[in-house]
Amino acid sequence: MSKSTKETLKIENNIERDEKIYEAGFIPGWIGEGGLKPEPIHDYDAKKWKWRDGKKLLNESLKSVNPKIAERRNIRMANNEPKKRSTLNSIHTSYQMVAPNEFARAHRHTVNAGRFILESSGAFTTLDGKKVYMEPNDIILTPNWVWHGLGNDNNDLPASWVDFLDDPLVANLKTIFFETRDEDYDKMETDNNSVFHYTWLEMDKQLEKSNADIKKKYGKRIKLETPSIPTMDIYLERLEPSITSKVIKSTANHIFICAEGIGETKIKQNTYTWERGDVIAVPSWTEFKHNCDDQATLVEITDQPLIEMLGWYRQLD
Ligand SMILES: [Fe+2]
Repeated sequence: MSKSTKETLKIENNIERDEKIYEAGFIPGWIGEGGLKPEPIHDYDAKKWKWRDGKKLLNESLKSVNPKIAERRNIRMANNEPKKRSTLNSIHTSYQMVAPNEFARAHRHTVNAGRFILESSGAFTTLDGKKVYMEPNDIILTPNWVWHGLGNDNNDLPASWVDFLDDPLVANLKTIFFETRDEDYDKMETDNNSVFHYTWLEMDKQLEKSNADIKKKYGKRIKLETPSIPTMDIYLERLEPSITSKVIKSTANHIFICAEGIGETKIKQNTYTWERGDVIAVPSWTEFKHNCDDQATLVEITDQPLIEMLGWYRQLD
């Protein structure tokens, strides 16, 4: 390094000078606040949430939290910092539960959302005024400004799922709108072919027919066609012990939900074990790798299409 380069890296410490700048409503641009860095530095951590914990907490909230007042009975998967109320900086996830014979009014929002069903035997989402009944492992989308309500016709069993949303992104861009309406669920017709409903039956068939990734980064993997939610892509990935999953590092954020089986995800130096319903958050530009001893299936939700559209997608080969 030349002498002159060294000199440019060192700024003279001068409290009086900096205080004057702060007092005038500026921030010194040379101390790193908002400055350019050689590569992304993340303020969100890799983290895991256990469905076993979420289910217990939601079961305990069944009586005391009324969706007529709360809108929805959900618990948000918040990252470690108390101020960070979301899962990652572009995608958020929550566990949600609907009690037996409980119904929640319809609403719509500019936030794009989807749900991966953990438990349902007679629960439905209403989509633009039609009921769509949900089975375990189904995925249902509730895209930007689509009306959606909830209900559970089962007299004994609650229904539950993982919600995934782009609301941290929409909130930061200050573009959230939200409306509610009452719908008559008793008289509502059922839609068995909603374009927003991805059945496990169909996804499982497609997964079985697919081939393992030739670069060995994934097992069998399918991408759902989801043009209605441009901010997120959804994949299903079937891991097998015979398939080595290589380390992945990219500028996309990732959420993984375990759909079946057990396994582990190594993120940097930490290993997170998972079972059905558990959720793993991997911030962008963070190395990760999955392993399993038997067959396991993960749902992968990523903001990659958004990052690609903006020209900022990079990955390690
Ligand atoms: Fe919603």
